[in-house]
Amino acid sequence: MNKKEVIDSLRSLHDLSKAINSTLNVEEVVEMIEKKTSSLMRTNRVLILLLDRTKKVLTLHSAFGFDEEEVPVKNFYNIKAFDHCIVHKGMVITMEEILPEDDYREYTASMPFLSDMVFAPLEIKGEAYGLLGISDRKRKYSAIELEIFCALGSQASVAIENASLYRRLKDTFIHTASALAEAINSRDPYTGGHTKRVKEYSLKIADALDFLEEEKENLKLAAILHDIGKIGIDDAILRKVGHLSGEEEVIMQKHPEIGARILSFADEMGDVMPGVCYHHEWYDGSGYPEGLEGEEIPIQARIIAIADAFDALTTNRPYRKGIDMAGALEELIEKGGSQFDPFLVEIFCKTMREGGEL
Ligand SMILES: [Fe+2]
Repeated sequence: MNKKEVIDSLRSLHDLSKAINSTLNVEEVVEMIEKKTSSLMRTNRVLILLLDRTKKVLTLHSAFGFDEEEVPVKNFYNIKAFDHCIVHKGMVITMEEILPEDDYREYTASMPFLSDMVFAPLEIKGEAYGLLGISDRKRKYSAIELEIFCALGSQASVAIENASLYRRLKDTFIHTASALAEAINSRDPYTGGHTKRVKEYSLKIADALDFLEEEKENLKLAAILHDIGKIGIDDAILRKVGHLSGEEEVIMQKHPEIGARILSFADEMGDVMPGVCYHHEWYDGSGYPEGLEGEEIPIQARIIAIADAFDALTTNRPYRKGIDMAGALEELIEKGGSQFDPFLVEIFCKTMREGGEL
């Protein structure tokens, strides 16, 4: 490796660092690491293995540049030499070092490429949680290249860990939000699980529309929190069995705005707000709070409106029995164009029928 190549490698390493820290999506981070490792180390084969420290099992997480049948083994057991590698962190590792002799022979018989692979530990706070591996039969790596490879492993470790932590944080938030929403709904005469079902029905429509991951995340949260504003509605109105008076109806209709106001205290919830604020708008403009019409109503809200109504129709309430799913879909179709977006109703019916839900 000459001086220019070293400088180029350092530059690429810096680019990698910028790229992998630009997203907090674990799958995207892993994909980026594989691609950059492949170009930086000039190899077309990259493996990422994750370690279960207690069971001493290495599990294949992804195999970039391999055909499926080339990697028939997904788990490597008895990784007894792995601790040895932790002691020598920063060094590249070979499969021969981390597998018992017999296992190594057996694995390399079915996967000959393993004997040519070198690995860099993926570790956080001195604890290995996986391996980043590269393979190139045609050439041997120089010491500098292997140093760069180790640096790449360190970068990858931090990025994967960051993304995983972010995912866990988001999951915790979703669980907390769901628990809060269910607690609020339990004051309502709804049957339990309304929030969860509205979320699931909404996501079916989003999947059929090929929503991006981020759009789905926002929709999911909006569906969970759509009735959060009911926290501000008095029990006497919320739990009233039978029809509400005109005055009570006006108060009840405040819940989307109350929900939106609650969310406005958290800047991060801006993309969730449309579903919460507008889920009672009607496609023909006769809904509330603003009387928006057609596609003026944010799509998040048009989806939640369908999911919400479908669950309300199909579950038992103190004052009436729920109808079957086929009947509920008929009712949604009937109200397509007036209450609901007819195109989205059609999509929902299709996914429910195709999904064998009926
Ligand atoms: Fe509502």
